[in-house]
Amino acid sequence: MKKNISLSILKLDKKEIPTFLKRYREEVQRIENLQINVEKFYNIIHFDVMDANFVPNVGVDLEYIKTAKNLGFYVDTHLMVSNPIGDKYVEKAIEYGTDDITIHYEIENFESVLSYLYEKKELLKKKYDRNLVIGVSIKPKTNIEALKKYKDKFSKLLIMSVEPGLGGQKYIEDTTQKLKQARKMYKDHIIQVDGGINFINVKEVINNGVDSIVVGSYLTDSYNIKLYKNLLKLNVLKSIEDLPKNRNIPFDTKLLQIVKGGYGEGDLLVGISVPDIRSLANKWYKYIDPDICDDFFFSKYHEYRQFACICLSNMMKNILNLKDEILKKEKSINLFSYFESNIQYINNWDLTDEIAPNVLGNFLLLQSEIEAKKILKKYINSKNIWIRRMSVVACLTYARKGYKDIPFFICKKLLYDKEVLINKAVGWVLREVYKKHPREVIEFLVSNNDEEKIPRFVISYATEKMSKEEKNKYVKR
Ligand code: DX5
Ligand code: ZN
Repeated sequence: MKKNISLSILKLDKKEIPTFLKRYREEVQRIENLQINVEKFYNIIHFDVMDANFVPNVGVDLEYIKTAKNLGFYVDTHLMVSNPIGDKYVEKAIEYGTDDITIHYEIENFESVLSYLYEKKELLKKKYDRNLVIGVSIKPKTNIEALKKYKDKFSKLLIMSVEPGLGGQKYIEDTTQKLKQARKMYKDHIIQVDGGINFINVKEVINNGVDSIVVGSYLTDSYNIKLYKNLLKLNVLKSIEDLPKNRNIPFDTKLLQIVKGGYGEGDLLVGISVPDIRSLANKWYKYIDPDICDDFFFSKYHEYRQFACICLSNMMKNILNLKDEILKKEKSINLFSYFESNIQYINNWDLTDEIAPNVLGNFLLLQSEIEAKKILKKYINSKNIWIRRMSVVACLTYARKGYKDIPFFICKKLLYDKEVLINKAVGWVLREVYKKHPREVIEFLVSNNDEEKIPRFVISYATEKMSKEEKNKYVKR
């Protein structure tokens, strides 16, 4: 079954439900129409129906099922009611066209209600060829074993990750373990999770065999500005999580020093290879605005931040190809300030070396030399090694285009930096400049070698392309 987002409209005011559903239909259509060949979430509407008895609130009116069905949505009805049959909830939901009816295991006459629903389902199938999905929901404290003996009577298991009755609650962390267990125990059932799901924790649930994810506030709160963006983010995240997890984690953990005391300490690898992340970012970047990358930059997962860096790199390259100079200037400034607002998340050498030449380097090249030096000053003096490193690797773009002044300016400023990561980068830049300006690089090394010994990594990388005699003759050890 296609993974789906089941959008809960619980937190909406009644009167805004019809307009919201129409708007949501449009936004879902927009996502589906994106010409990017990744599997996107299928979108359905989740009706949280309450009787102020089983839970102390009233939920959504069943009436609105008709509106959702008229808009072509699949409807999933979550009955948080003590008496689904006697109080006519089942009857009405079926009459209004629901595709799925979910009752709670904890209601008094659970067994008889479940059998009634089962018969109803058979009848609808026989008489109208209508497929009604029967779901059973359990509260956080209910054990999934309790449902085992009924498993042939229902096809969906809805696991509450919050206490039923309210939207906008916090995801109960140990639900994740329960989802794993449920997946194993109910192999052929639809597993659905409901409550407190957002960008941060959705990764856990989709990686533990969940088929359907109920999302309420993450999509309905301030939906005028966030609805499309958050829906898009969830689809981008899904496409990342759909990638194979075949990265050599132990090797890359060392390479990125994601170890105690290492410069990558505390980072987390998902296990997705760089080529896979790159090819996905190369697909997605044209369909997303920079701010969609926010949550990916903020992510504790390394590959999520890498995805964001590659998207921004591609966006800047696109901007450079714009014919309209005014537009180019405006878009490059916007993208650059967005890059700077997320700079603290670019916190390992694979991230800096991806984004700095493409975003910082290309942006500086659009500025006057004075302006570029002004911008670079705060990078050079930063205590953050990654920010200093970005100022150096950004110069590779200058050097590749044959420019030498800014590269020499930066290399001079950071020539005696105590960090090897900076020394290596300075060496690379000088090596790159050497390709077009050999004499100047030799002069640079010789003239700066007097005061203090140039760090050996600078020398070894900078002189890599030099002939033996050049090395020996000019560059003192
Ligand atoms: C609780 C409801 C909520 C709702 C989801 O009874 O079932 O879980 O649908 O709401 P959010 O996503 O806001 O937690
Ligand atoms: Zn619900």
